[in-house]
Amino acid sequence: MKREFRELLRERGRTELPRVLLAAAECAPLSKTGGLADVVGTLPKALKKLGIDARVITPYHRCIKDKYASQVEHMFYFYTNLGWRHVYVGLERLELDGVVIYLVDNEDYFGDKIYRGGMPEGEQYSFFCRAVMDVIPNLGFEPDVIHCNDWHTAMLPMLGHTQYPGQIQDRAKYLLTIHNIAFQGKFGFDFVQDMLGVDAKYYTPEFMELNGCADFLKAGCVFSDRINTVSPSYASEIKMPYYAEGLEGILNARHDVLTGIINGIDKVTFNPKADPTLPARFDRGHLKGKAACKKSLQEQMGLEQRPDVPLFAMVTRMTEQKGFDLVACVLDDIMSREDMQFMLLGTGDERFEKFMAAAERRYPGRLCAYIGYSETLSHLVYAGSDFFLMPSRFEPCGLSQMIAMRYGSIPIVRETGGLRDTVTPYNRFTGEGNGFSFANFDAWEMRDTMRLALECYRNDEIMHGLIDRAMQADFGFDRSAEDYARHYIWML
Ligand code: ADP
Ligand code: GLC
Repeated sequence: MKREFRELLRERGRTELPRVLLAAAECAPLSKTGGLADVVGTLPKALKKLGIDARVITPYHRCIKDKYASQVEHMFYFYTNLGWRHVYVGLERLELDGVVIYLVDNEDYFGDKIYRGGMPEGEQYSFFCRAVMDVIPNLGFEPDVIHCNDWHTAMLPMLGHTQYPGQIQDRAKYLLTIHNIAFQGKFGFDFVQDMLGVDAKYYTPEFMELNGCADFLKAGCVFSDRINTVSPSYASEIKMPYYAEGLEGILNARHDVLTGIINGIDKVTFNPKADPTLPARFDRGHLKGKAACKKSLQEQMGLEQRPDVPLFAMVTRMTEQKGFDLVACVLDDIMSREDMQFMLLGTGDERFEKFMAAAERRYPGRLCAYIGYSETLSHLVYAGSDFFLMPSRFEPCGLSQMIAMRYGSIPIVRETGGLRDTVTPYNRFTGEGNGFSFANFDAWEMRDTMRLALECYRNDEIMHGLIDRAMQADFGFDRSAEDYARHYIWML
């Protein structure tokens, strides 16, 4: 055990590292729609290296059942009450890379869609929270800390402290990690009362009421022992109304327990030196394989076979968060003036999907919009592109820019949240930096920054320096895991 941890534990009269149960809606590689899954999949492995027994509890989604059913071990089942409903809760257990993952089974709630949207999603995750609370005493693993992630699991601390007094669920400490404050789980109080039997005395602005709704994430902010978000910059931003989506009051009130811990990436899954999904592998200083990946990407996506043309890429959920308005505004301007290619891999809002599909028809051989989700293709896009565009309106952390850097694709980002904390803009006077950035959420600023990147692309020395520094940056999870470990110990 690290000496620092031993000393922190001694101050709390403890000798053993805390046991941690991470609760989340998705967990890579089992289920994934975005970065939350990556974090929940990677953090426990990194914590294990520090000697912390961290386990995960997540829904047994259909996509997991399809792939892992033969490896899963059935633990037990029972029925629980969800309002007037009497519902089945199965608990399955799976061990992946030495990490224990508990899977909550109920086929009515966890079918094809990880997120059903609207009230059905409220019901899915009310059920999940209730099931988590009810299985805890029977796990044979008493967690000291329950680590909740986003609104889907944010009701756990309130349920634990108000509905299970004196029991394990109440004795545990709760850490709430906010991965995205834009999603809060807002419902009518009647619905929440019906689902989870929440006492009406908690439906006040002091507890879970916000703008006439019962707000799961707010309840989490109120009842958790500590709150963190996924970058220091976002931790400051969410104290301001522009970013906080109405939660600035509670977050300012709890500023003493609110911190930012930057995410890391899984350096084994994302490793250009050994990535089995790529047609060729590469490393800092040995970039031949990267050129081969670019060729293969162009070939597969119907882009002109030109090694010399700069290739910009995006791999993303297509939502307002990710700055698609900016892309829509200046795409034609830049595509018509510059000799460049553009590759998008993404899925999301219909209007953005349609816009990109139409753009593909306007620029045949130069622009490819692959609307869909593909893990394998994403690796090739990171590896085969020269620049990675991420002009987010807000970005709690962002993993894509870190993955891109690891694969030598130079990020072009807006200076917000984790993008600001991970990308150092190129400085033409000192030659420092590992990417490009712009400050305002402004399409023309983004276009000018893309032009600066294009200028640099024509200078081999500058470009090689950028690639070298980007690939050198250490975005592993070990540092973040140490920070989480400290937080867990502080809460004991
Ligand atoms: P967010 O969680 O907000 O979507 P992050 O940058 O934190 O953003 O994480 C996104 C993760 O999801 C990355 O691992 C990225 O490669 C992956 N991803 C996003 N969209 C797609 C897609 N269409 N196909 C494959 N992977 C995707
Ligand atoms: C959210 C955020 C993203 C972050 C991810 C993992 O999806 O949008 O910025 O990297 O969670 O924490």
